[in-house]
This record gives sequence, structure tokens and C-alpha cells, in this order.
Amino acid sequence: MFTMLVIATNNRNKLREFQEILKGLDIEIVSLDQFGPLPLAIEDGVTFEENAYKKALHTAKILGLPALADDSGLVVDALSGRPGVYSARFAGEKASDDENCQKLLDELVGVKNRSAYFQCVLSLAVPSGPALTYVGRCDGTIIDVKRGENGFGYDPIFLFEEFGKTFAELTMDEKSRVSHRGKALAEVKNELKSIKKWVENRLNEERPAKPDHSLFANKDWSDEL
Ligand code: IMP
Repeated sequence: MFTMLVIATNNRNKLREFQEILKGLDIEIVSLDQFGPLPLAIEDGVTFEENAYKKALHTAKILGLPALADDSGLVVDALSGRPGVYSARFAGEKASDDENCQKLLDELVGVKNRSAYFQCVLSLAVPSGPALTYVGRCDGTIIDVKRGENGFGYDPIFLFEEFGKTFAELTMDEKSRVSHRGKALAEVKNELKSIKKWVENRLNEERPAKPDHSLFANKDWSDEL
């Protein structure tokens, strides 16, 4: 039975957005936190699709439960699509949101074309491998000076023209209704009945004997979290 869905993210902001959108559904939504430290998935894909699938499958295999993961980022037209899949580490491996925003602003000094979009790919994988994929996109403009206190990442410099506000000036509810993640999740929500059936069929077809715990063997993961 498909009664529990693991959200494969350690990002609390994202988790809250997922929970907000999926609340009221007939499935228990659990987070990675509830399982203690887990080895991290290696996000070395070159597309959002690849990375989302890697994260979802990694979690599903370890926990023996269906898992939903996202990969998202900002695609800037004038930068030929950068930072794209490298959005989280645009200014360096451990860069902060502020540093990433600043690097983007620096690269766009004097650039007229400020159009950009956020893209989100969701992958819902079962432990045996198959997955469903959902995509959402939100178009906007990169402004010069940060505005707003909400959200995370590039939100303060991403202007959503329709509202005349940056993502950081929207409430979570407003952002969820129009964001890339919100749109991808809305599709999941719309198709929940068929998704549930699909997941149940996959779980019945190939029930793993037990979760794959081999990755835990003799390894302390605490410094990687
Ligand atoms: P991910 O966690 O691998 O999907 O990394 C995505 C990165 O893209 C984040 O660290 C942010 O920098 C950026 N990003 C993704 N979604 C959003 C959003 O909704 N607002 C602002 N930045 C975002």
C-alpha cells in the first residue's frame, strides 16, 4: 500500500513548501529528518531531470519507501542558462545564498537582457527504480538590488512581473501558487489518483526484500550533513 511518501530534501524551506502543497492528501508525508542521518545522494547530473531522479532513487532504495525529490535552479538567458544545475554552488561549493546572488548580480552588471526562469523537476521514484517526472517553470526578471525578506536562494533578486514583487516579497502561499515548484507539485496533486495507482502497482510488482542499508556499513555520515 502507498501510505507514506518521503520528501528527499534537507532544505527546510523546500520541505515546508512541499508539505504546504501536499497537505490534506491521503498520504503521510515524511521528511528525511525522521530517519536520522542518511548518506547524501551524489548530484553529478548535468540536467535537473537527472539530479532529481538520482536523489529520489537514492532515498527510495535506502528507506524502502517511495520518495519524491526535486532538483531546481535558476536559468538566466543572458548567461546561456547558467547557473542552472549549479545554482546552489554558483559562487563556490559552500556558497551562501547571499554570495550566489552577489555573483549573479556581478555577472549581470551592464547586461540589458535580465530575463530568467526558475525550473523545477520532481521525480517520484519507487525502490525498484521506475519513476514519474513532473516539471514546473516560472518566468521572471533579475533585478539589480535585493528586495524582500522571505524565501531563500535567489528569491530577493527574482522579480515576478505579474505581481510586481520579488519572490522574497511574497508570502509562502503566494509563492507556492506561482512558483516553479508550486506548478510541478500542482501537477502531482492533480494526478494523485493515477500516481497512487502507479506507485501501488510498482510496489506490488517488485517488492524489495528489505531496504538497502549497505551504504551505512561502517561509515559515520555526520560530517557530511
Ligand atoms: P537544489 O536544492 O539542488 O534544487 O538547488 C537549487 C538551488 O537553486 C538552490 O540552492 C537555490 O539557490 C536555487 N533555487 C531553487 N529554487 C529556488 C527558489 O524557489 N527560490 C530561490 N532560489 C531557488
